[in-house]
Amino acid sequence: MRTFILFSERGRTKGDFRDLMKAGRLDILCHDVIAAFFLSNAMRSDVSLHLVLNGPPDPPKHIEFVSNEEMPISKKDIGNLLRSVLWKYKPRRRIEAFPGISIEKKRFEDVLAENQGFYLLESAGRHISQVELGSNPVFVLGDHMGLPRNERKAARKLAEERISIGPMPYFSSQCIVVVNNHLDNLYDERSIL
Ligand SMILES: C[S@@+](CC[C@H](N)C(=O)[O-])C[C@H]1O[C@@H](n2cnc3c(N)ncnc32)[C@H](O)[C@@H]1O
Repeated sequence: MRTFILFSERGRTKGDFRDLMKAGRLDILCHDVIAAFFLSNAMRSDVSLHLVLNGPPDPPKHIEFVSNEEMPISKKDIGNLLRSVLWKYKPRRRIEAFPGISIEKKRFEDVLAENQGFYLLESAGRHISQVELGSNPVFVLGDHMGLPRNERKAARKLAEERISIGPMPYFSSQCIVVVNNHLDNLYDERSIL
């Protein structure tokens, strides 16, 4: 299993939006979901993606996607899926919104603490090709705004190591594609649904 944890400082925490771009750029998180799970004509069977949304009106929300062949996911409509998951939220509970997709109130720091040994993606880190990643690596990254100061501090403190995919500043979804491809080449297994 490979895991990505993405923090979005402004991602809207209620499903009452029409325009993803005005909902704290949830359109960017849709690209991240596609990059994490989709291959051409196949879905990856070994991915977990955590989205921590910290925008209004009720932060934080932790949405976890885990590869599941019954997950009702279409590349054309991730926005509506996120909206439905947010509407299914119930206070003080972890809700299985859909097969493979859960939502609960959980802070970024707590998600990090549950994923000890994670790698923090930063362009100034050690190049990924020089790092022994192990079989179930976890990667932490920010959305278009990057990690805010406090979250960056917490992540740097807990991270196993800061790692880079190169000197260029990539979109978060591009980072996920590059890391997925790197792991595919390392393990050379067909992990698809
Ligand atoms: C669009 S970037 C954020 C840009 C933001 N202005 C910043 O300075 O953090 C989104 C995330 O992708 C990751 N990232 C971008 N380029 C990277 C690179 N070359 N190597 C590793 N991670 C990278 C970082 O985790 C970053 O938070």
